[in-house]
Amino acid sequence: MNIIKELFGNIKNSGDVYLFTFANGKITVKLINYGGIITSLLAPDKSGKIEDIVLGFKSLKEYLKKDYLEKNPYFGAVIGRYCNRIANGKFTINGIEYKLAINNGKNHLHGGNAGFDKVLWRAEEIRKNHEIGARLSYISRDMEEGYPGNLDVTVDYILNKNNELVISYEAICDKPTIVNLTHHSYFNLAGEGKGDILSHKLMINADKYNAVDGASIPTGEILPVKETAMDFTAAEAVGARIKKVKGGYDHNYVLNKDRELSLAAKVTEPESGRILEIITTEPGIQFYSGNYLDGTIKGKSGKVYEKHSGFCLEPQHFPDSPNHPEFPGTLLKPGGIYSQKTIYRFLT
Ligand code: BGC
Repeated sequence: MNIIKELFGNIKNSGDVYLFTFANGKITVKLINYGGIITSLLAPDKSGKIEDIVLGFKSLKEYLKKDYLEKNPYFGAVIGRYCNRIANGKFTINGIEYKLAINNGKNHLHGGNAGFDKVLWRAEEIRKNHEIGARLSYISRDMEEGYPGNLDVTVDYILNKNNELVISYEAICDKPTIVNLTHHSYFNLAGEGKGDILSHKLMINADKYNAVDGASIPTGEILPVKETAMDFTAAEAVGARIKKVKGGYDHNYVLNKDRELSLAAKVTEPESGRILEIITTEPGIQFYSGNYLDGTIKGKSGKVYEKHSGFCLEPQHFPDSPNHPEFPGTLLKPGGIYSQKTIYRFLT
């Protein structure tokens, strides 16, 4: 088990960006403290061949490139203060209406114009028995992107000897606010740049999903997946019924929970034999089939990322929860602790 820290670049008026590489002999994770981005995740296939299984870039310059940012891929980043969408960028706490940045049609997406994916985090290495990684921390100021209260956030990325990457989030605040954090890696278990993910077999442990309107805002209706193209209760190829889903999959599933930390999804890539299991504390998971990738972004292997060249499975609370009192709550009050834990388990 080994950690290497190297300089990755510098952001003017902000500071140095470091690349942390931690490896357990099988899995190698590369993480930068800009956006808490996982730039690379190396994993063996069934014959031991190592490949990078997440989309991303080689240099900081590309992560900061204006026309790439406008495409909003959020490759590999921490998403916050509130991931996914908030209708009209508005919500109310104790009778006070807050207005957030509008950056997705008329709605708020992934924390705004400069969400947690675009800030520089403090970083320290973690070395424990059989566990290595990094702790990132960030103080999001009162009214940053329109959110009330100072929010003190830490995100631990830990690789253990069981080939699990464990991401644990915690946050505390000094005024009532809303929090919903997630991780936004685009996986391709065949290897980054190796075509689309349509033949990956996906199981999502959810009998229901959140119905959405044309702008991906929940209508409040929770619908059964049974006998629809949304049904992944038994493993099925991502591409098998994707044409029946307008625009492709970009939906929030309501997870079946039998315990706090429970299996949310399992993805198998038949050729390589690579398997990813996702285990989370969260009530929902966003399944996004990389629909907006359009062949204009060139990734680290020099190939452009076409539609469906990666998928995201983002454990989270439901989108727009602050405007749906019937959904599990996302309000954090002073004295309370927000916490979220997700395990990404790599197998063959
Ligand atoms: C959202 C998509 C969005 C993508 C990249 C996903 O989490 O569900 O709608 O396009 O992130 O921005």
